[in-house]
Amino acid sequence: MTEQLMFKGTKDYVISDDLRNSVNIAIALGRPLLIKGEPGTGKTLLAECVARSLGLKLIVWNIKSTTKAQDGLYVYDTVQRLYDSQFGDHDVSDIKHYIKLGKLGEAFASEERVVLLIDEIDKADLEFPNDLLWELDVMNFYIPETGETISAKHRPIVIITSNAEKELPDAFLRRCIFHYIDFPDCEMMEKIVYVHYPDIQKKLLTEALKAFYWVRSIPGLQKKPSTSELLDWIQALALGGIAPETIAKELPFLGALLKKNQDFELTLRQLHSRSVDGKDRDKDKYYRSIMRGY
Ligand SMILES: Nc1ncnc2c1ncn2[C@@H]1O[C@H](COP(=O)(O)OP(=O)(O)OP(=O)(O)O)[C@@H](O)[C@H]1O
Ligand SMILES: [Mg+2]
Repeated sequence: MTEQLMFKGTKDYVISDDLRNSVNIAIALGRPLLIKGEPGTGKTLLAECVARSLGLKLIVWNIKSTTKAQDGLYVYDTVQRLYDSQFGDHDVSDIKHYIKLGKLGEAFASEERVVLLIDEIDKADLEFPNDLLWELDVMNFYIPETGETISAKHRPIVIITSNAEKELPDAFLRRCIFHYIDFPDCEMMEKIVYVHYPDIQKKLLTEALKAFYWVRSIPGLQKKPSTSELLDWIQALALGGIAPETIAKELPFLGALLKKNQDFELTLRQLHSRSVDGKDRDKDKYYRSIMRGY
């Protein structure tokens, strides 16, 4: 029997007790852990953190729109075999040489227990999760070309992430332990920023967070800024020597936070209507000058 592992967390990943518990329940039950949440809520980083904390190797399977479940099991490289049979000088009769394990295959075949991250499962088509159900349940698969069965020597810890772009099939959901990572509140975000920039000036951080959550609250944004954008922005503010008290009024380096033209304009309009009250013509001029710059 595999020794029971207990995930405690790492210093550089801020985690809620609920999420830590979900990881440990998934490990104990041997079920995949399905993590959903807005972009930038630390889904991918969680898998790295689990692997590091448990001292296990991390295997990452990045899912794209074209990814098929079969790619994760194995690929039979018939083209290479044909090429070798015509131009090569080695024996092509052993098909095993032309079987290349995919990421799931690699995780099963590993001599040691691993963490397998299936990242952004919702990028693939709807059939993809269903096609993986069987292999994830029984932890083995058969390769008809060689007559070989690849069985997991140690049940991998499977972490699956999704941005909730598509709903996942019920049969798939039933087999997973599910956890939704809420977008961090201000207090948690402060901790996350400190993990990345332990020496950040407190006043700058407070003002930047205030402005960040204000920007996120603007109705109609196409892409709300997330943690990674905030981290870049804070770095820009610190490097730019921006005075904390000007952050909320001027939103300097807004391009680090917002990546869409419409969001940019919408935010500047909101900033403008918040600050111009009829008496304050200077701010109006300031707003116009920013708009001209973009
Ligand atoms: N809890 C956290 N602790 C420390 N850093 C965090 C945390 N959450 C997010 N971050 C930071 O935010 C960045 C984005 O995290 P990550 O890439 O894991 O998010 P994600 O949820 O996978 O996003 P996406 O859906 O865009 O792939 C990380 O590189 C990390 O720097
Ligand atoms: Mg990610």
